[in-house]
Amino acid sequence: MKTVAVFLMCLAGTWAHMCMISPPQRGSMMGINKAGADDCALVTGPCGGRMPMPHTGIALMAGENFTVTLQKNLDHWTSSSPGMFTINMREGEEGEFKQLAMIKDMGEPSLTLYSTNITVPHPMGHGMATLQAVYVTKNPQAPAMFYECADVHIMPRP
Ligand SMILES: *[C@@H]1O[C@H](CO)[C@@H](O)[C@H](O)[C@H]1NC(C)=O
Ligand SMILES: *[C@@H]1O[C@H](CO)[C@@H](O)[C@H](O)[C@H]1NC(C)=O
Repeated sequence: MKTVAVFLMCLAGTWAHMCMISPPQRGSMMGINKAGADDCALVTGPCGGRMPMPHTGIALMAGENFTVTLQKNLDHWTSSSPGMFTINMREGEEGEFKQLAMIKDMGEPSLTLYSTNITVPHPMGHGMATLQAVYVTKNPQAPAMFYECADVHIMPRP
């Protein structure tokens, strides 16, 4: 009985993964054409434990819209407590993330792509910013959150 319970917990722990496709997430993005890819299973906030890659980030124009694309790599929706994806940004490496967009998880299958438009905020400082995607599972049988970050450079409007 105990063995079964432990096995089920391990199984649950491997469920509900997310990757950020655009802008491209920090680190690698391997094997995402299959559900359960390790690169989409990062549960350490705020950035999945991945270090900034500030010189590889793309440039976004303040005040313009940008389409963020995520992949639900592995589904773990429950009808009793549906989750969501949030898109958040902060400038620099310190401070609070501010939510820019939210997508409800409506129980789409694994490997579904989700897109949402964000309006790029105006930079307060040097414009190096972290765009964060969080899969909030709200599923007691799965990790509460999955995290990915992308490094972006916000260009002020000319
Ligand atoms: C950006 O998106 C918002 C909300 O969807 C829209 O109202 C606005 O016109 C768009 N701005 C640009 C520059 O496309
Ligand atoms: C984002 O904005 C573009 C350009 O305005 C529009 O074509 C597209 O449908 C929007 N996407 C979403 C997911 O709202």
